[in-house]
Amino acid sequence: MLNPTNKRHKSNKGWLVEHVHDPYVQKAKIDGYRSRAAYKLIEIDDKDKLFKSGMIVVDLGAAPGSWCQVAAKRVDVANAKKPGRVIAIDLLEMQGLTGVEFIQGDFTDDAMLARLESMLNGAKVDVVLSDMLPNMTGVSTIDGPRAIGLCEIAADFAMNHLKPEGKFLTKAYQGPGYQEFFNQLKTQFKTVHTRKPDASRDRSAEIFLLCSRSK
Ligand SMILES: C[S@@+](CC[C@H](N)C(=O)[O-])C[C@H]1O[C@@H](n2cnc3c(N)ncnc32)[C@H](O)[C@@H]1O
Repeated sequence: MLNPTNKRHKSNKGWLVEHVHDPYVQKAKIDGYRSRAAYKLIEIDDKDKLFKSGMIVVDLGAAPGSWCQVAAKRVDVANAKKPGRVIAIDLLEMQGLTGVEFIQGDFTDDAMLARLESMLNGAKVDVVLSDMLPNMTGVSTIDGPRAIGLCEIAADFAMNHLKPEGKFLTKAYQGPGYQEFFNQLKTQFKTVHTRKPDASRDRSAEIFLLCSRSK
């Protein structure tokens, strides 16, 4: 068994062995999801019921697209009468997904934000998802604040674009700046709950924050 305290664990080979044997990686292949991250959103939605047919979802940091796959199905983008919408953005290219509207670009860039807003055309959003992750340097004093910086920008977007009963789900890292971010969310939203789905590896400092504008 791999030992998280063993330095070899951090080598690419160790990561690859773990990845290949990861039950969520295997399940994602069978279920047709683009990444194991799908199961994090599935577990949170099964418990917290974020999505309903016909909803509008914005997915920040969407590539390769497994959260889009889950959201598109659960808001029923293929419904002929009242289709839901999933609008997604990522720095990276993303292979097309039926019913998902995608922008390639930097969400923190004003021009990209304007594009996203023009796609919304004044419509308010039911759920804002953010799984954005900056390029990691391995130095926690750099990575932590960068990751939290993205979360803060996502939270501002959610505050400005969510419906009064809307929800914001963001990934965050428990490290420098986390507690301040958590406290800030509590001033912006009515409720803030932490979620650590099974598919989120125990040794990972990642945690998900689910924020609601109403009780
Ligand atoms: C963990 S991945 C997202 C996985 C995705 N939720 C899924 O299920 O397939 C994080 C993504 O955030 C994107 N990202 C990071 N910073 C970004 C930014 N400023 N604007 C847009 N996307 C960003 C990265 O390119 C990366 O694809």
